[in-house]
Amino acid sequence: MVVSTEGTGKRARPDSRLPVVIVDDLHVEYKVYATGKRATEADRGGLLRRAKRTRTVHALKGVSFTAYENDSIGVIGSNGSGKSTLMRAITGLTPSSSGAVYAVSRPSMLGVGAALIKTLSGQRNVILGGLAMGLSKREVEERYDEIVDFAGIRPFIDLPMRTYSSGMTARLKFAIATVRKHEILIVDEALAVGDRKFRKRSEQRIREIRDNAGTVFLVSHSMQSIRDTCNRVIWIEKGELMMDGDPDEVISAYEATR
Ligand SMILES: Nc1ncnc2c1ncn2[C@@H]1O[C@H](COP(=O)(O)OP(=O)(O)O)[C@@H](O)[C@H]1O
Ligand SMILES: [Mg+2]
Repeated sequence: MVVSTEGTGKRARPDSRLPVVIVDDLHVEYKVYATGKRATEADRGGLLRRAKRTRTVHALKGVSFTAYENDSIGVIGSNGSGKSTLMRAITGLTPSSSGAVYAVSRPSMLGVGAALIKTLSGQRNVILGGLAMGLSKREVEERYDEIVDFAGIRPFIDLPMRTYSSGMTARLKFAIATVRKHEILIVDEALAVGDRKFRKRSEQRIREIRDNAGTVFLVSHSMQSIRDTCNRVIWIEKGELMMDGDPDEVISAYEATR
């Protein structure tokens, strides 16, 4: 027997979870100032006019979707398809040329919050970074060991950060940025660094944030990381949303085009 809820006044909502981010027909255009010989020769009118020659890169062309609490959304697509532009637009760092992004709270983008200082030691950076993330001094002290061990930089903690490899720096940023609760966290390619063990620990952290009613966006070229941490995948190609849905389905469709 097929039970229909149509017309009973109790129609099941497609998703009863709280919407956290709404992206509505979002367009982003970059103005690129054209330089080079051809522009110069074509435009003998003068320096002023020449300086104003621009080219427009239409990086996002009408992207729409809604992210809900507990969503962990993998974002995939080939290089230059607009993934980072979409993430920056969600945080508000990149303005839209039309359309809109609505978010219930300000999204945190990994790496933006924790600006580390190269001349200071890892230890000082953990403390300053923790404070910058909004922890109290006491909370930073309580979480200090956890941050250092998560980043795996204990033997180097007294050395200035300029002596750290880019992998160590990225691990420390991830450890600091994820130390506190995030309602909306954006991770753009950060898991590409570090070894397998660090990746596993990071994926576990992403799952924890998501379990705490947070919403996570994960841009990654690792389909394995996305399968392991995401309940949903958005595929972007040439600035357009190709597919939005179940990770296995979207990833197979994406891989079939490559
Ligand atoms: N700051 C910028 N100025 C001009 N063009 C940009 C800028 N950032 C990105 N683009 C262009 O926008 C398009 C999308 O880039 P991006 O969002 O970085 O893609 P992805 O992260 O998927 O590799 C590309 O064509 C890229 O060259
Ligand atoms: Mg990118």
